[in-house]
Amino acid sequence: MNTSKQVNAMIGLLGLLVLVLGAYAINEGNRQQAAREEILERDIVRGSKMFVNNCRGCHGMEGKGSEEGAFAPALNRDSFLIIDEHNKDFEPTPAGDAAKVRTFLRTTIACGRTGSPMPTWAERYGGPLSDTKIDQLVTLLTTPGAWEIYKEISDEHLEEVYPDIHDHDEAFQKDKDATIVKLADVPTLSVTEANCGQYTGTTASEFRIRDPFVAKGSAPATGGDATPKGKAAPSGPTVKGLPVADFFKANCAVCHGQNRQGGVGPALTPARLTQADDFYANTIANGRPGTAMPAWRQTASLTDDDINNLVTFIKTVNP
Ligand code: HEC
Ligand code: HEC
Repeated sequence: MNTSKQVNAMIGLLGLLVLVLGAYAINEGNRQQAAREEILERDIVRGSKMFVNNCRGCHGMEGKGSEEGAFAPALNRDSFLIIDEHNKDFEPTPAGDAAKVRTFLRTTIACGRTGSPMPTWAERYGGPLSDTKIDQLVTLLTTPGAWEIYKEISDEHLEEVYPDIHDHDEAFQKDKDATIVKLADVPTLSVTEANCGQYTGTTASEFRIRDPFVAKGSAPATGGDATPKGKAAPSGPTVKGLPVADFFKANCAVCHGQNRQGGVGPALTPARLTQADDFYANTIANGRPGTAMPAWRQTASLTDDDINNLVTFIKTVNP
């Protein structure tokens, strides 16, 4: 047989092998990606089912808190989202920030919140949920798009519970009436005792105002800073770089109400606030010792300008 022909055939075969192996490697990458997505979706589905059964009553049918007439803070919020490296539009969340957000959510859910009705959920502290299940809840709260999957799960739940009601909105309203804890019943809820929890409503504030969206190509986010990045500075008065109303929603509404109508703390509306500005500035800066009202100058490093902007807002802007 002709040797050069043999060599040519060998080279051809080698080339084919390279092609096949290359295609296999590409496919393997896709397969791994698909497997990752499958696991993620499975965790979100499981987290959603737990949220339907355990969390909606206090945090809202869609996790949106007071916006939906629920008394506990919103959990369906951008500030808890973690952006992964596959996102096309936004920079991935730096690993340190992502770990901080996960730790905050995981320990809050596991331990509950001392002095508030937020229950202790972890089995190891006497609650009903394993660490794996708590992680599935954290995945629901931190994955962009997860609340869309939650919607499907909660609609399936509606069909199971009210098979005879074919109008979605009617079934939803009925379920909501049966599920949401009424404001009048809040004082009768049991309050979580001191335990493993290291977060309070005040130390939670940095996680409520965090902005996870940093446009691709802009400067990477630095850890620990609560000011939003990757967006144009807002016009009008601000507190820590946020429009006053947004800062209020994220930090004060938990106690004073989404529309400043009052709750744990008194209503903060122009009609009610008849004292001098200094009086309220002093309250916000130093808190009211012996009550739930935090000292914001210290806990959130608010400046005098920040505090004055808050006072002007609550005394002059009607909700
Ligand atoms: C009985 C009412 C109640 C139930 C049920 C409940 N929570 Fe809460 N939760 C609260 C309250 C109240 C707070 C705010 C505590 C505070 O003021 O610091 C809270 C706070 C939180 C926070 C911290 C949010 C923040 O911005 O500080 C997370 C996370 C959370 N809950 C998750 C859950 C999850 C997940 C479930 C279901 C497994 C759940 N909660 C069930 C009442 C409840
Ligand atoms: C953890 C609950 C809580 C949070 C969060 C909170 N407050 Fe308060 N706040 C209270 C309570 C309770 C009082 C009433 C204290 C008292 O009885 O003297 C109060 C009182 C006040 C008062 C005095 C009202 C009056 O009529 O004397 C102002 C002003 C005020 N808060 C502003 C704020 C602002 C602004 C924020 C957000 C930066 C905020 N609070 C966040 C619980 C809270």
